[in-house]
Amino acid sequence: MGQKQWASRVGFLLAAAGSAIGLGNLWKFPYLMGRNGGFTFLIVYLAFVIVLGLPVMMLEMGLGRYSGRDPVQTYKMVHPKAKIVGIFGVIAPFIILSYYSVIGGWIIKYIISYAATFAAPADFNAFISSNETILWHLLFMVITIAICCMGVGGIEKASKVMMPALFVLLIIVMIRSVTLEGSSEGLRFIFEPKGGFTLSSINAALGQVFYSLSLCMGITITYGSYLPKNEDIPKSCGIIAGMDTALAICAGVAIFPAVFVFGLEPGQGPSLIFGTLPNVFNAMPGGVAFAIAFFILVFFAAVTSAIALFEVVVSFAIDSWGWSRKKSVAIMGALIFFLGIPSALSFGALGDVTILNYSVFDFIGMITDNILLPVGGILMCYFIGWKFDINKLADEIEVGSAGFKVRKLWISCIRYVAPILLVIVTLSGFISVYNTIVG
Ligand code: TRP
Repeated sequence: MGQKQWASRVGFLLAAAGSAIGLGNLWKFPYLMGRNGGFTFLIVYLAFVIVLGLPVMMLEMGLGRYSGRDPVQTYKMVHPKAKIVGIFGVIAPFIILSYYSVIGGWIIKYIISYAATFAAPADFNAFISSNETILWHLLFMVITIAICCMGVGGIEKASKVMMPALFVLLIIVMIRSVTLEGSSEGLRFIFEPKGGFTLSSINAALGQVFYSLSLCMGITITYGSYLPKNEDIPKSCGIIAGMDTALAICAGVAIFPAVFVFGLEPGQGPSLIFGTLPNVFNAMPGGVAFAIAFFILVFFAAVTSAIALFEVVVSFAIDSWGWSRKKSVAIMGALIFFLGIPSALSFGALGDVTILNYSVFDFIGMITDNILLPVGGILMCYFIGWKFDINKLADEIEVGSAGFKVRKLWISCIRYVAPILLVIVTLSGFISVYNTIVG
């Protein structure tokens, strides 16, 4: 308790947008769009952001401000049995950060490599399979710990510098990419309405809405708990979701035209950023400068998401266990670092190890993406919609918001629409896990 509040509205918005804008926007969304029907996918994604993402974000933010506590204490207040939702909401960020930080470490390595040798590490696969990655993972965790050690103020300051810088750098890289000759093919890959939109695209869109907006993970509750009463929650959520979506689209415009101009295969995930893009930068006039700009931008996106993930865990230890902030960041930071080591080694020393047919890295991701988040989300809608006086929450959202005119709609969304969509995501996730395990 005794937690501080955001010093400024801009600081809060940038910190919340910083949590949402992360690797998911940069390496996943543009690819999903390209592979799932282009413009059609974008429209469906936007529709889900509006009917699912925004209402759930408002719920979490309102809930956080209502209780002023960490997610576990918050859900305990909702209903004695709902504590489990809060626990899920703390464990998920704990696990996600452990591998997010491994990738964060790779990013630092790339920035340093470009700055020192004007080139990416010679061989992407050799680098990620080396044990050196543990050191970079450690460095990334130390940076995250240092920022969270300073509390809300530190998070706010870091976000105020990193987020605007990220936007500027992205615009620069975007302009470079679309002014390359022949860039239109890449733009067509992402934007052109085309085939490929199937049932599984709907699922991909739904899952991406949750992941990209950082929902069901206690983050929005935690950041909401530092919010003053005069803050307009629906408006803030609209701004955050808008920035997140705009940035995902811009990332596509920055990345894919260049990939196509240089005749490379569009892909997603780590290999897109660390394997494919360095080749693009190599082939481009002035490529080194753009490479450095690009990796710094990715670094800022990763750090502002990492501090959000870490703050959930830290605020939990402070609030629920009564630890001091220093003790929480030190102990939790160390635990997350150790948990990340198997993920760091998953591409090298532990490369042959599989758990239920998943690599170590993918297994960790599966637990959070396919189990903790969707199940946590369903339980959240159940407890808030049906076991708690949801009107109290609607009242909370109304405080500071003259514009909350859709109260009834919002309530039916939390009671019916969101849980139904979440059940679909959960079941389809289970099916894909099952297929991997027996596959
Ligand atoms: N939204 C982040 C991204 O797009 C990833 C993420 C998921 C996240 N859940 C989170 C970040 C919770 C911070 C907090 O990459």
